[in-house]
Amino acid sequence: MKKLAVTLVLGMISTWTLSATGEETYQTVCANCHAQGLAGAPKVGDTKAWDKLIKEGQMQLTADGFNGVRAMPAKGGRAELTLPEFAAAVVHMANLSGAKWQEPDEAMLKKMRARIEKRNTSSAK
Ligand code: HEC
Repeated sequence: MKKLAVTLVLGMISTWTLSATGEETYQTVCANCHAQGLAGAPKVGDTKAWDKLIKEGQMQLTADGFNGVRAMPAKGGRAELTLPEFAAAVVHMANLSGAKWQEPDEAMLKKMRARIEKRNTSSAK
């Protein structure tokens, strides 16, 4: 019984580190710039700054952020981030700034990948 509990806990830890939640990714990567609005980054919670971004739409905004936009480095500068991880962090930030988005489903991820490949500055996993 004790062994089972240990196995379960270890299993939970490894899935947790394999795929970070949007909030974790935000805290460890994106908040470095987006919490304070560094270098012109849209500050989380600034609904005015986010309003026009949210209107661009989740698919487009996520794909373009993943590729990098002006002072925004591709994948927020964390090369190992996957598209679903990056997209979840975008959802977390947008929802703190006036959006009501959900993490993208497979169909939306596919559209994002197509847009990323088209610009072809970054590979989408
Ligand atoms: C080194 C600083 C920095 C980090 C780290 C960073 N960003 Fe940004 N981000 C920026 C800046 C600066 C902009 C504004 C770019 C512009 O419009 O000129 C931006 C813009 C964006 C946009 C709007 C893109 C658009 O189409 O206008 C999104 C979405 C975004 N970031 C998501 C993220 C996510 C998600 C992370 C974490 C995985 C992240 N950023 C990490 C600096 C950063």
